[in-house]
Amino acid sequence: MTVEQSGRRIGTVADRGDCSPRSKLEQVYMATEVHAAYLDIILTRYGHSAGKLLQILREVQEYSGYIDRAAVGYLSSLLGIPRSRIESVASFYSFLHLKPNGEYRVLFSDNITDRMLGGPALLDQMCQQLWLQPGKVSEDGLVSIGTTSCTGMCDQGPAMLVNGRAITRLTHQRIQEIGQLIRNRTPLDNWPADFFRVEDNIQRDGLLLGNALACGAALRAGLLQDGHAVVESIKASGLRGRGGAGFSTGLKWEVCRNAPGAEHYVVCNADEGEPGTFKDRVLLTRQTDLMVEGMTLCAWAIGARTGFLYLRGEYRYLLESLHAALQRRRASNLLGENILGQPGFDFDIEIHLGAGAYICGEESALIESLEGKRGVPRNRPPFPVTHGYLQQPTVVDNVETFCQAALAVHMGAENFHAIGTAKSTGSKLISVSGDCPRPGIYEYPFGVSVREVLQDCGAVNTVAVQISGPSGVCVGESEFERKLCFEDLPTAGAFMVFDDSRDMFEVARNYVHFFAHESCGFCTPCRVGTAMLQQTMDKIAAGHGTRYDLAEIEDLDRVLQSSSHCGLGRTACNPVLHTLKHFRPAYENKLKSLEFESAFDLDGSLARARQMTRRNDAGAHLKEIG
Ligand SMILES: Cc1cc2nc3c(=O)[nH]c(=O)nc-3n(C[C@H](O)[C@H](O)[C@H](O)COP(=O)(O)O)c2cc1C
Ligand code: SF4
Repeated sequence: MTVEQSGRRIGTVADRGDCSPRSKLEQVYMATEVHAAYLDIILTRYGHSAGKLLQILREVQEYSGYIDRAAVGYLSSLLGIPRSRIESVASFYSFLHLKPNGEYRVLFSDNITDRMLGGPALLDQMCQQLWLQPGKVSEDGLVSIGTTSCTGMCDQGPAMLVNGRAITRLTHQRIQEIGQLIRNRTPLDNWPADFFRVEDNIQRDGLLLGNALACGAALRAGLLQDGHAVVESIKASGLRGRGGAGFSTGLKWEVCRNAPGAEHYVVCNADEGEPGTFKDRVLLTRQTDLMVEGMTLCAWAIGARTGFLYLRGEYRYLLESLHAALQRRRASNLLGENILGQPGFDFDIEIHLGAGAYICGEESALIESLEGKRGVPRNRPPFPVTHGYLQQPTVVDNVETFCQAALAVHMGAENFHAIGTAKSTGSKLISVSGDCPRPGIYEYPFGVSVREVLQDCGAVNTVAVQISGPSGVCVGESEFERKLCFEDLPTAGAFMVFDDSRDMFEVARNYVHFFAHESCGFCTPCRVGTAMLQQTMDKIAAGHGTRYDLAEIEDLDRVLQSSSHCGLGRTACNPVLHTLKHFRPAYENKLKSLEFESAFDLDGSLARARQMTRRNDAGAHLKEIG
């Protein structure tokens, strides 16, 4: 029996579109054939492929609110993989749950910019309103409230996710209304549409955002040349990856094209998890065709038939419009078989949705996730260009890189090369947030100074800008003439502004918490090191820090730099070291004059013993002894 045959759509009240509590009969149905029937539909959609495990689990959760034991057992038998593997994958991704987690799952974005806009007070308000503690599920199973890493809405925060759907521009009034809607068990589809509006906030356009190319124009220009010539053209344009590392795009395509393999793959990295970065969100909304055209040109150049768009789970709301865009292109013969009449040029794209794991932005972790596994970075070399998806040659590029590649092919390598600086050609999208009256997306030719961006967004009394997110650099006032480009300040796009009212120690503490939360735990130096770093910063914040702790952080950095498996661990100490360089007093004001103090409050832990012995004199306190 299928769900359609049963004549009922089963799911949580919140997702389901009716307000009635589940009847006993319904619960029985859920645990039996309808449940199995729905799982069958999902499994069929994904060809009963264990490689699609993450997508299957995500859909199971969308259907029933969490992944229950019965579902794990059923999937295990039909996919032919052990239960332990399914549970291990599900437990890796923060948006997946193996236990009931509230029909309404509320997650407040915990980036520093959300905090600066009052996020924590709104979280407290909601917890009080719903009589709930953060991280707990209400006794009636109605709601859970927690925090999540940056949701990519820093230009319109504070933001939250409710059952994966983004709500922006939160205010006390809006929180009041949301609390009421939850109490009334109003299905999400009946909440005011305005709550879910995500603005593009394009403040300055340029070569990319201002382009008026007709759909298919860049692809038609590319198909006039053979694959080799397209690679040469991208190389000559000087295009470098926009995802952060700045590797030569043409060179990457060339190595992949020349790598032996039964299949070649194109992957678009739309995981955009670096706090403060939201430019890919806007490109996915406004330049979908250009991005797909870049992917299709890459497929032409390297000889791929399959592409994947890895979309971060926080951007789930874009899924339907992206599917529609792909469908339109298929209908126009811009995707599919014999594209634009080129015999044998077959290429299509699947969308793969992430589930709340920042590390999956790292290209080899992303590929693991695409293969339905935990998103743990691979040993490199070999690199994805030769051993990527299913160990086949794979190009992984950022959303913006594919857009720029399409532009470069259309306008010609020479014209593209003429824009920007010698080693950073073309333009760059900057995501501006924080202390400024005009946050949003700004596009500039590479080489723009930090000061120019600050002037354009109207920032005043700025003391620091965090460039390229927590893993990037913090520049102080003395460095505002520095340029955004690979020769000076490379950036994936984040530009977080802090004025003189901010405590830069707290900014760094937020970033350190982010790294500790997002460490995938695979290697000990990072797993333990990021936790130690977090503890040390919390200890300083609590007034127990000493100079010894600052020296410890520098030692920790040396260990993490030299022995971490991937970039997350290697950059985890950056926020502290950079803010220490510019804002040492912000740390020193919080330090005790002692040379060392334990992170463990020994005197505090003896409080119970003092109570039992009815002693509270000086001699009963450790600090007073000796
Ligand atoms: C921890 C970590 C997270 C990353 N997150 C992203 C991301 O969200 N988006 C992205 O495009 N690249 C990200 N990268 C970089 C990718 O590994 C890879 O270099 C990039 O997708 C290559 O594309 P590009 O050459 O077009 O920049 C991340 C790297 C690391 C180490
Ligand atoms: S450095 Fe951190 S994030 Fe990277 S693999 Fe090791 S534990 Fe995972």
